[in-house]
Amino acid sequence: MPLGRLNHIGIATPSIERSLELYRTMFGAEPHGPPFDLQAQGVRVCLVDMPNSQIELIEPLGSDSPVVRFLEKNPAGGQHHVCFEVPEIHAARAELGAKGARVLGEPRIGAHGTPVFFVHPKDMGGVLVEIMESPRA
Ligand code: CO
Repeated sequence: MPLGRLNHIGIATPSIERSLELYRTMFGAEPHGPPFDLQAQGVRVCLVDMPNSQIELIEPLGSDSPVVRFLEKNPAGGQHHVCFEVPEIHAARAELGAKGARVLGEPRIGAHGTPVFFVHPKDMGGVLVEIMESPRA
């Protein structure tokens, strides 16, 4: 399975609005579109375009959001995950699982409308890795 392009860097934040203001002030960056809710993953998301990738700002949606614990440890927010593309999500999940990586859950539709899954940071050198099927051209 080839390691595909870096799709985005996930950054957890207590406030998407405040983070957008920061990126606007520092870099003149504007959001790709308005924030939207990903109910199944318990997060509110807003994407910021870069020429070669994106930033994915994620804010907890509800008190049982998986991002809540991260923000308890990192109250100002922080880098949460990196997302790599692969050509075929189920093949990637099977291969990483066979190599001993703890794969978190079944593939589900992510912020970009294609299936994703996460790999436990303990099996990826301390980095929470999101694997995402490349969008069809
Ligand atoms: Co992500």
